[in-house]
Amino acid sequence: MRQSSAFFFILNCCVLITLTDGFSLSNCTIYFPFEYSGHLKVLCSRMSYRKIPSPLPHNTVNLDISYNAIHQIVEGDFIRLSNLIILNISHNRISEIHSNALSDLANLEELNLSNNKIKTVTTKLLNGLTNLSHLRLDSNYLETIENQSFATLSNLRLVNLTNNKVFNSRDIPSAFFGLKKLDLSMNPLTVFKMMENIFPGLEYLDLSSCFHSNISDWFILDKAFLNTVKTLNLSRNHIEENQLDYIMQSFASVTWMVLDGLKGFKVDTFLQTACSSSLRSIHLEDNNLSVLTDRMFRPCALLNDLHLQNNRVSRMYKSSFKHLVNLTELRIQKNLLTQLNDTLQVLPNLRVLDFHLNSIENLDCSDFANLTQLRQLYLHRNRIVTIKACVFKDLGNLEEFILSSNRMLTVRGTFTYGPQNLQYLDLNNNKLSAIQNDSFKALHSLRTLHLADNQILNIYPYAFAGLINLADMYLGSNKITERTLRNRAVFAGTPNIRSLDVCCNYISYESQEELQSPPFILLSELRVLKINSQRRGLNYIPSNFLKGLKNLQVFYAGNLNIENLHVDTFSYTLNFTFLDLASNNLANRNALTSRLFQPISGLNKITLGRTHLQSLDFLVDANLSNLTILRASTNDLQLINQTIIQSLPQLKVLHLQNNSFTCDCSNAWFIDWAARNNKTQVVYLDKYECRYPLSLSGKSLAAFNTESCNVNYDCICFIYSSSIVILTLVISFIYHFLKWQLVYAYYLFLAFLNDKKRKRTSNHLDFQYDALISYNAQEEPWVLEELVPKLEGQHGLRLCLHHRDFQPGKAIIDNIMDAIYKSRKTICLITHNYLKSIWCSHEIQVASFRLFDEQKDVLVLVFLEDIPTHQLSPYYRMRKLVKKRTYLRRPKPGEDNRAFRQKLKMAIETKENMEDRQILSGKDEDHV
Ligand SMILES: *[C@@H]1O[C@H](CO)[C@@H](O)[C@H](O)[C@H]1NC(C)=O
Ligand SMILES: *[C@@H]1O[C@H](CO)[C@@H](O)[C@H](O)[C@H]1NC(C)=O
Ligand SMILES: *[C@@H]1O[C@H](CO)[C@@H](O)[C@H](O)[C@H]1NC(C)=O
Ligand SMILES: *[C@@H]1O[C@H](CO)[C@@H](O)[C@H](O)[C@H]1NC(C)=O
Ligand SMILES: *[C@@H]1O[C@H](CO)[C@@H](O)[C@H](O)[C@H]1NC(C)=O
Ligand SMILES: *[C@@H]1O[C@H](CO)[C@@H](O)[C@H](O)[C@H]1NC(C)=O
Repeated sequence: MRQSSAFFFILNCCVLITLTDGFSLSNCTIYFPFEYSGHLKVLCSRMSYRKIPSPLPHNTVNLDISYNAIHQIVEGDFIRLSNLIILNISHNRISEIHSNALSDLANLEELNLSNNKIKTVTTKLLNGLTNLSHLRLDSNYLETIENQSFATLSNLRLVNLTNNKVFNSRDIPSAFFGLKKLDLSMNPLTVFKMMENIFPGLEYLDLSSCFHSNISDWFILDKAFLNTVKTLNLSRNHIEENQLDYIMQSFASVTWMVLDGLKGFKVDTFLQTACSSSLRSIHLEDNNLSVLTDRMFRPCALLNDLHLQNNRVSRMYKSSFKHLVNLTELRIQKNLLTQLNDTLQVLPNLRVLDFHLNSIENLDCSDFANLTQLRQLYLHRNRIVTIKACVFKDLGNLEEFILSSNRMLTVRGTFTYGPQNLQYLDLNNNKLSAIQNDSFKALHSLRTLHLADNQILNIYPYAFAGLINLADMYLGSNKITERTLRNRAVFAGTPNIRSLDVCCNYISYESQEELQSPPFILLSELRVLKINSQRRGLNYIPSNFLKGLKNLQVFYAGNLNIENLHVDTFSYTLNFTFLDLASNNLANRNALTSRLFQPISGLNKITLGRTHLQSLDFLVDANLSNLTILRASTNDLQLINQTIIQSLPQLKVLHLQNNSFTCDCSNAWFIDWAARNNKTQVVYLDKYECRYPLSLSGKSLAAFNTESCNVNYDCICFIYSSSIVILTLVISFIYHFLKWQLVYAYYLFLAFLNDKKRKRTSNHLDFQYDALISYNAQEEPWVLEELVPKLEGQHGLRLCLHHRDFQPGKAIIDNIMDAIYKSRKTICLITHNYLKSIWCSHEIQVASFRLFDEQKDVLVLVFLEDIPTHQLSPYYRMRKLVKKRTYLRRPKPGEDNRAFRQKLKMAIETKENMEDRQILSGKDEDHV
């Protein structure tokens, strides 16, 4: 949890830097170490850079550009990085560093240029690095180092030149005044000459693997030049015996010497001179010392450490170490010893004894006699079958004993009396098949017991009794079954166990039924329990399996073939913080329930990867308000909804890679949240893939565009305002080009309303007039002089004429309405002028309404002039379309008027029915 919050801190800082410093994070990682507040660590490792990346934040203190493909460093590459303290450019292809290219780095303390292709160190290369203390040039192609190259580096403490091609000590520049450590190993040196004291303070000198043939020229003007050296490594050189003596004269103060893998070298004689000096520690590994004679270490009474690894040692004598009275550490690992041959009793100061990787089969009671100071004993990877209790009789101070990878068949009786201070015992990978009662009775101090990788099937009651301080016990990879644990006394007498690992055994249950004796009921202090990966599958966790573990915090129950958990499983373990159920088969929707988790609301981290999980809905009511890490990768989850996430208010890290996500709007909330929220890190979000819909299968979930899913108020505003604009445009357009049509429509509408009103109120059968004559003023003479006298006078029809019969003071439109509805027919006398008149057209329209509305055709059109179709109003054309036509044409002058008048009279008098209309229509329509 601490880590994750640290992570967020880092993230936040990154963002800040991006904003303020314009540094792109796409390649390098920025990291904010807490100890240097305000100072940055920038990691640009393995990014295939071909030159120093830029720009880098000016407050970078530690920059790692290792493992790239940079060829050269030029002036200005580090121009803004004057705060840099540590710079790692190792593992690049640098062959050239321009003069003064590094001179901006005045504060640099550590420079790592190892594993490049640098051939020369010129005087100007390291110019300006006044604070440099560590310089790594190892594994380059260095042949020459110019004499004054290090002249300005007054703070230089360590130079690592290992694995180069420096062949002459004259190539080593002078003026190394402050230098403490020099590693010149793996250079093909032939000459080592010092005419002046160029390393006055040198403490550590590594000259291993330098002289492949004899050192032809080793000359040091003054023997005191190198007497500050405390640590000297001359391993893997070809040094003649007499030469070595001579060389050693220059290192009078060496305390720690490594002489591994020397050729042509006689240990006996060498130690005569070497041991008489200040030497305290010597490594003599890989030197083929198959027999340790009794004379060999005679001069080495002062020796503290002796390392004899890998020498094919097969014989040691009682007297071999007799003179090493002050020896505290003896390592003879990786040799061919079969017994200890009572050789060690003479080393009462021994604290560390390492005999691992030999062929020891038996330990005698006297083998560790007198080793009362021994703290660490390493006997792993031998062939030991049993150990008697007497072996430990003097090892009262032994703290750590590693006996893993032997052939121990039993520990019965081995630890009956001690060692009483033993804290760490490793018996992994032996052949133990049973642990008898009181096996570890005397180990009161033991804290860690490793018994993994044995054949343990039987654990007797009180097997671990006496281990009152035991905290960690490892019983993994044995043959333990549920029967082994049936007796609760198996763990009796070890009340303080904190961590128990019984993974990878054969424990298996057939149901969730309560156990008569829950196996861990005595382990009330247990914090961590691992039962994962039982070889036959645990299959069921009995409902009271964890009973007694009231302090259990961490439970590993992965890979157990569990299909569901009883709701009471965790009702005994209220202090849970971590639960691992990975790799089970929880495909069933009820495999995990909210109730199961309710008792363990302190749960912090849960791992549910590879469980075939289909939904996280159980989390909603699980009350896991403390969960910070949820791992559910590789499952069949399709949807993550808001309720699930909101039920986990403390969630910091979420792993959901490799699920069956549905990429549609049902997941839109999750997709947005995962990308945008700044509280929970959704790990590897960019790798989440869609499974559904199939058309998007394999596509990136994060790339799914959720915008179409959201009700976007901006968008609505936009659409709304655009609509208004468009509407306004349309209206203006209509008004401008279709004004008259609109006005018609308006009156048509009024007529429609009127018509409705009249329909309700009036009786249509009694008409006040036979016909309303609608005409344009220009036709008035003809109407008054010809039409009216004929129709009223001769035919006795009652006509309605607007100048005569319209009510004065009433609105024209109302008068028109009244007149039309009071007349059986409306006769329109159509001329060009008539069509241009608003009111006249209106009369046609209202009459038309009666046609549509009452199914009565009350309109009689009399064309007084020939009028082309396109000049007719839309209403007129409409009438034409519905083919309800009643038209008359005025006879031309000279034609017979009587037929016309007769037709007109008939048209006025007919009731409105289909047959009548036939008569009236005639062939006059052709003229229209
Ligand atoms: C940074 O990384 C991107 C890919 O993430 C790559 O295309 C680009 O070349 C890298 N920049 C450098 C300088 O290597
Ligand atoms: C020098 O570098 C090598 C790795 O190249 C390392 O093993 C060795 O310990 C270094 N020497 C010193 C004195 O740090
Ligand atoms: C053990 O020591 C005895 C004499 O001290 C010697 O004869 C014998 O060879 C030694 N055995 C081994 C295996 O070193
Ligand atoms: C051996 O070590 C002890 C301390 O452990 C010291 O007092 C004694 O002087 C040492 N012996 C020699 C010969 O230096
Ligand atoms: C080692 O212990 C034995 C008794 O087991 C004793 O006789 C002997 O003197 C001791 N040797 C040394 C060097 O302390
Ligand atoms: C849970 O742990 C706390 C301390 O971390 C302890 O005080 C409490 O007693 C424990 N609860 C139970 C039920 O043991």
